[in-house]
Amino acid sequence: MTSKPKRDTKAKAKSKPQRPKPEPPPHDPIWQQSAWRSRTRQRLLDWFSANHRVLPWRSDPQPYHVWISEIMLQQTQVATVIPYYERFLKQFPTVAALASADESTLLSHWEGLGYYRRARSMHAAAKQICEQHDAIFPTTFDDVINLPGIGRYTAGAVLSISQGQAYPVLEGNTQRVYSRWVAMQGVLSEKPTLDLLWQIAAAMLPKQNRTDNDAANQRGPGIFNQAAMELGALVCTPRSPNCDQCPVRAGCCARKLGIQETIPGKVKKIQYEDRTEFAFVIANRDQSQFLVRPIPAGERWAGLWDFPRLTTGEIENESVAATHLHETLSTPISVGDPLMSMKHAVTKYRIRLNVFKATVATRATRQWKPPAPWKFATLTELDELPMSVTGRKIVKELSKGH
Ligand code: ADE
Repeated sequence: MTSKPKRDTKAKAKSKPQRPKPEPPPHDPIWQQSAWRSRTRQRLLDWFSANHRVLPWRSDPQPYHVWISEIMLQQTQVATVIPYYERFLKQFPTVAALASADESTLLSHWEGLGYYRRARSMHAAAKQICEQHDAIFPTTFDDVINLPGIGRYTAGAVLSISQGQAYPVLEGNTQRVYSRWVAMQGVLSEKPTLDLLWQIAAAMLPKQNRTDNDAANQRGPGIFNQAAMELGALVCTPRSPNCDQCPVRAGCCARKLGIQETIPGKVKKIQYEDRTEFAFVIANRDQSQFLVRPIPAGERWAGLWDFPRLTTGEIENESVAATHLHETLSTPISVGDPLMSMKHAVTKYRIRLNVFKATVATRATRQWKPPAPWKFATLTELDELPMSVTGRKIVKELSKGH
C-alpha cells in the first residue's frame, strides 16, 4: 500500500512572504540589563513602601474590589473615584449584587463618572461571572480577559494586585514612566511603541519564588505594578515631573538627556469640531413636572434620562429645533425664554448647548399626554433618575427656582 504523500505544511508556511517586524522606536536599551532592572525595581519598591497613598481599594484587594477600582480609574482621577467607589461597594458589595441590579440603579451610581459604557460592560461582566463562574470572580488570565470591558491592562492589574500573579500593566501613568526611563522617542499611539513598553513592563516585574507568590507580598508583581502607577501619578507627572523627588532619577535616561518634559512624544491632537445643540425644558400645566425620556440603546448616553434635546448639530436655531421636536412629540412646541447655555465636549465635538423653556402649544394643552416612553417627572423624581452631566445641570438650574 502506498501512503499518501504528506503535505509539507512547514515548507508552505516558509514560502509565504513574511512581513518585516516593525522596528521599535529609538530608545536606550538599558532595560535589557538585569542589574539596571534590579536597582530600579528595588528603589521604586522602597519608595512605594514609604510613600503610597492609603486608598480604599488597597485595604482589602479582592479581585472584585480591584476590578471596580481599576474600571473607575480609567479616565478618572483618584480623588474623584474614592467616594464613587465607596458608595458603589456599599450598594453592590458582591458580583452577584451587581449582576442582579437594574441598569437604571447602576447608572445612577455611575452618574458623573462619565464614559457610561464602562458601567454597562461591568454589568454584563458580572452577569457572565454569575453564569460561568458561580458568581466568583475568576482568577485565570484567559477567564478574566474574556469578560466584557476587560483588556490586557485591567486583567493584569486585577490578577497581579489581588493574586500576586506576574502580569504586567500598562496604562497612562506607566506608559509615561517607562517611556522616560528608557528615553523612548516614539509616539504612544503606535503599535511598535506599545509593544516595546509592554516588553519593558513585563521585564521589570519582580521574579517570584514559591514562597512569595501571594498578593500580600510587599515586593511582588502586584505591589510593583501599583508602585509604577503611583510614581506616574505623584512624581513622574505629565508636565513638570518632580525629578528631585524621584527614587529612580539616577537610572532615568530621559533625565540624563534633560528631555523628560518632552517624553512621551505628543499624540496627534484631536481635531475638535464646534457644534450647537438645543434642549428644551417643557413643564406641565402647574410647572411641577418636566418632560423627559430614557435615551434608547445605540444613542449617545443610552440608558440615561434626558430632556428633549436635538443633537444632530445641523440645526440653525431654537425655532428649527422646535419644529423637529414637533415631529417627535406629535405636537407643536412654542419656544419661550432661554434658560441657560453651557459648553461641553463629547468625542470630537465641542458643543454649545442652548437650553430654552418651551410649552406644548396644542389647543388641548391641559389634556396633552406625552407619547411613551416620554414622561413628566417632578424634580424629586429627576433626582433619582440617572442623567448626563448636562442634564443634571439643567435639573440643578430648575431646582433654584423651586
Ligand atoms: N491608576 C490606575 N490604577 C491605579 C492603581 N492601582 N494605583 C495607582 N494608580 C492607579
